[in-house]
Amino acid sequence: DKGNFRHFMAKEIYEQPEVISHTLANYIDMATETVRLPEDLPFDFSQLKRITICACGTAYYAGLVGKYWMEKYARLPVDIDVASEFRYREVPLEEGGLAIFISQSGETADTLASLRYCDSQGQHILSIVNVRESTIARESGTVFPTLAGPEIGVASTKAFTCQLTVLACLAIAAGRQRGILAESDERKLVHALVEVPRLATQALKLEPQIEDIARDLSRARDVLYLGRGLNYPLALEGALKLKEISYIHAEGYAAGELKHGPIALIDENVPVIVVSPSDSLFDKTISNMQEVAARGGNIILLTDEDGAQASGDQPQATLVLPKMFQFVQPLIYAIPVQLLAYHTAVFMGTDVDQPRNLAKSVTVE
Ligand code: F6R
Repeated sequence: DKGNFRHFMAKEIYEQPEVISHTLANYIDMATETVRLPEDLPFDFSQLKRITICACGTAYYAGLVGKYWMEKYARLPVDIDVASEFRYREVPLEEGGLAIFISQSGETADTLASLRYCDSQGQHILSIVNVRESTIARESGTVFPTLAGPEIGVASTKAFTCQLTVLACLAIAAGRQRGILAESDERKLVHALVEVPRLATQALKLEPQIEDIARDLSRARDVLYLGRGLNYPLALEGALKLKEISYIHAEGYAAGELKHGPIALIDENVPVIVVSPSDSLFDKTISNMQEVAARGGNIILLTDEDGAQASGDQPQATLVLPKMFQFVQPLIYAIPVQLLAYHTAVFMGTDVDQPRNLAKSVTVE
């Protein structure tokens, strides 16, 4: 049931404050502001030397954010790959390591094959899945469910932010077990997570402005997304979302890679969407943005009040999000990124919930 929404995708985008809240409640002890791990976890983060993360599509981008978090907050090295490559790479793995698989459906063939490989190599298998009765969940030693509820739209939205929520909790728990995060650090990070549903609700209020921008985007043939650090995976996710439902060609790039090639594409016909909150990497990304502007590129900037001030009149349009702790940025910036793709597709008149050539669950290799 779509309720008052035109598409399942819109409904699912709007459900995010609530489902993130449910997911958080499953992993966080609100009274002590700490992350709660199952008692019977068969591994300890302090014993691990590295982690392997494996997934496909949007779930892979969630994993990429997870890698940044694990490295920064738990000082734990992470190898990540798309499952369709990982499974054929003959990756050497040290016995007793941890492998994390992320999947909404829990049925993705390549992700499952990668899981079975890691299992055969003596890894602990942890899966982050939305469908609890799925094959991937069944074959995992440990399951960390996302509580997104059924996701009907083919383009993943709420499952993505719930995957991020679980990965954020895992990174905090890992940081604690490894002695990297003190009690007060943990409380600060958990507190930032608890604020996410409220901030997500605020981000949803940008919809009318996003619709205006989407009207212009729907006339583009190619779109570039740029982001740095935690926002780099968001650039990749933005481009994937746009191409899969609006059929407009889009590429996501690490902002610093612009000058290594893609800048050749920039002219007044290629909108460039820059995901850049005013954090420690802001200045770097803004200088990439200036390179785009100097070549006549049309910039759409996703930032906060300070970022909007600092970028002056260079962007053609600016979406101003609330100021937030760097840690939780990907969870909130996901929302305007999803809405941009959604409204562009609506202007294009495509079948938003059932885009051509795509299936909700990819059980073929
Ligand atoms: C994109 C999308 C796909 C899936 C991918 C993995 O919007 O939905 O890229 O993320 O097919 O699917 P799961 O998470 O079910 O393994």
